[in-house]
Amino acid sequence: MKILETHNLKKYYGKGDIEVRALDGVDLSIEEGEFATVVGTSGSGKSTLLHMLGGLDYATSGTVTVAGKKIFELNENDLTIFRRRQIGFIFQSYNLVPILSVYENIVLPMELDGRRADKKFMDQIVQTLGLENKLDALPGQLSGGQQQRVAIARALVTKPAIILADEPTGNLDSRTTQEVLGLLKLTSEQFHQTIVMITHNEALAQLSDRIIRIEDGRIVNDYANRAGVPGGRSFTRHEEDMEEAGETGREVRI
Ligand SMILES: Nc1ncnc2c1ncn2[C@@H]1O[C@H](COP(=O)(O)OP(=O)(O)OP(=O)(O)O)[C@@H](O)[C@H]1O
Ligand SMILES: [Mg+2]
Repeated sequence: MKILETHNLKKYYGKGDIEVRALDGVDLSIEEGEFATVVGTSGSGKSTLLHMLGGLDYATSGTVTVAGKKIFELNENDLTIFRRRQIGFIFQSYNLVPILSVYENIVLPMELDGRRADKKFMDQIVQTLGLENKLDALPGQLSGGQQQRVAIARALVTKPAIILADEPTGNLDSRTTQEVLGLLKLTSEQFHQTIVMITHNEALAQLSDRIIRIEDGRIVNDYANRAGVPGGRSFTRHEEDMEEAGETGREVRI
């Protein structure tokens, strides 16, 4: 089932001489349960795309449909509610609330929505992510990798239609990157959770089911990633992305 679809999606910033066509006609369709990555050079429009998919901002034109709903037809208030219920965000900077415990951080989106976390599901998530012994800790008492695992738990707990992650391992060392990405992939499989993740790092993209390449606000390549699958085709990496991936990228290749 299609969980997310865009049609001729455009986002232009500024006007006249300073106009930037951050997205310039994106048609994209994501199936339920897919773990897709978006790759592309700096400034190519990746974060702008994620913002549009998650309804963090309105597009210049075109549509985004999430779980059958055209999100730009919603007013700001309804869009906020829709976002809270249907979209899970994971950012590079974790965005945890420092004065709340790990447990409180995880259930916060549910509580903001006046709902209670499903205890059984919560336990499953916490166990999968290895956070059982950290529930009473404050974010400041955790390592970067642990904080990002909390952010993943928080994104999963509402059972959103889609999780959107913007460079979720950008602040982590290579070993922790591998661990966090492995857990993200595991959760996508275990909970059949749709995930769209931005990364600069081609080696990380290899962990996903599908790689979408964006340049100058347009999709220039989009294909199922079968690297690592016996008989699957190998993946050609672009020189500039290999340079960006650097040592870290190659290390996490599995
Ligand atoms: N709020 C804004 N106002 C004006 N221009 C913007 C705004 N946000 C993004 N842009 C421009 O849109 C283009 C795409 O930016 P975007 O942040 O989507 O790139 P990106 O692919 O995420 O890059 P990076 O890999 O560096 O994070 C860039 O040229 C950027 O300068
Ligand atoms: Mg970005």
